[in-house]
Amino acid sequence: MSKARIGILTGGGDAPGLNSVIESAVRVLSSSGVEPVGIADGFEGIYKNQTVSLNPEIVEGLHAKAGTILGTSNKSGVVGREAEFVEKYKSLKLDGLIAIGGDGTFAGLQKVREHIPIVGVPKTIDNDLTGTEITFGYDTACSVVAESIDALKATADAHRRIILVEAMGRTTGWIALGAGLSAYADVILIPEKPFDKQALLNHLRNKQQAGQRGLIVCIAEGAKAIGEEPHVAFRVEHSPAKERLGGVSQMMARWLENELQWESRQVVLGHLQRSRPPTTTDRFLTLAMGVEAAQLALHKKWGQAVVYRQGNVVSAPIADLMQGTRHVPLDHRWIYLAQSLGIFI
Ligand code: F6P
Repeated sequence: MSKARIGILTGGGDAPGLNSVIESAVRVLSSSGVEPVGIADGFEGIYKNQTVSLNPEIVEGLHAKAGTILGTSNKSGVVGREAEFVEKYKSLKLDGLIAIGGDGTFAGLQKVREHIPIVGVPKTIDNDLTGTEITFGYDTACSVVAESIDALKATADAHRRIILVEAMGRTTGWIALGAGLSAYADVILIPEKPFDKQALLNHLRNKQQAGQRGLIVCIAEGAKAIGEEPHVAFRVEHSPAKERLGGVSQMMARWLENELQWESRQVVLGHLQRSRPPTTTDRFLTLAMGVEAAQLALHKKWGQAVVYRQGNVVSAPIADLMQGTRHVPLDHRWIYLAQSLGIFI
């Protein structure tokens, strides 16, 4: 009898820990006599019938590497091509698929789920998926931003400057909040809480008058003032996410310098937040998620996803991941902590 074959696919933007999920899932599948089959470049690999060899030797040590050995793609591309997707998937002769992705990946797979046995693993550095309390990659992204704030504070102090550190987060401020709080930024600006421009200027003026030399503003790329829209960098018409953000920190730096006569600079951390090897926290999370995903596939628990709830990696219906974006609640305890520390948020 031929071996069972389970496909593994990574979709959407890369996140630290993807390779770690792949390593642990491959180890478990292989030791159970199942053949893991990598799908190249997300959904593209299904359409183009491109696979990547996976076995315990190939994946050894992957847990410490950024990116994804399988490649990924932001193009969901399933809409309108569902029948072709199912047909191409079937030609791969797989017994099931472990899909590691974000909202776009699961929304794409939603359309073909009744024809394809799927186990889901949620990922995004933004930490904004419903159904799971934390997504892997988030801790690593926060570490990048927090370390950058710590480093830039020295320069800000040396030059008596305001430095705006721009974190990713189009509609949610989890990264800016987690990193800004853990690095004691002076100001944290997140999309969920549009800021009062005058109150912000007053806060900074007070700091200036109190003799503070340098100052750090940690700002999410989607942050905006009350009554204003997020700063759009450019548009990509053929993409599902047409508006690309980025650059709000530059605009804010010019505005603050003008208003306060306080020299200001900005640093956009961009994809550095995604391209680091995972932190220990993300390694623990991803190795547990890989094991759990493989177990679900081995036990044919299709339609389930691996999620993190109340301190444990457990399973829940994939549909739980698609209940919209998980925003920072305005009464979240981290906002309270920031306010208690005198951080403007
Ligand atoms: O979803 C993660 C994310 O990093 C966002 O915060 C960011 O805006 C976006 O992806 C950028 O992705 P890309 O440049 O790959 O399109």
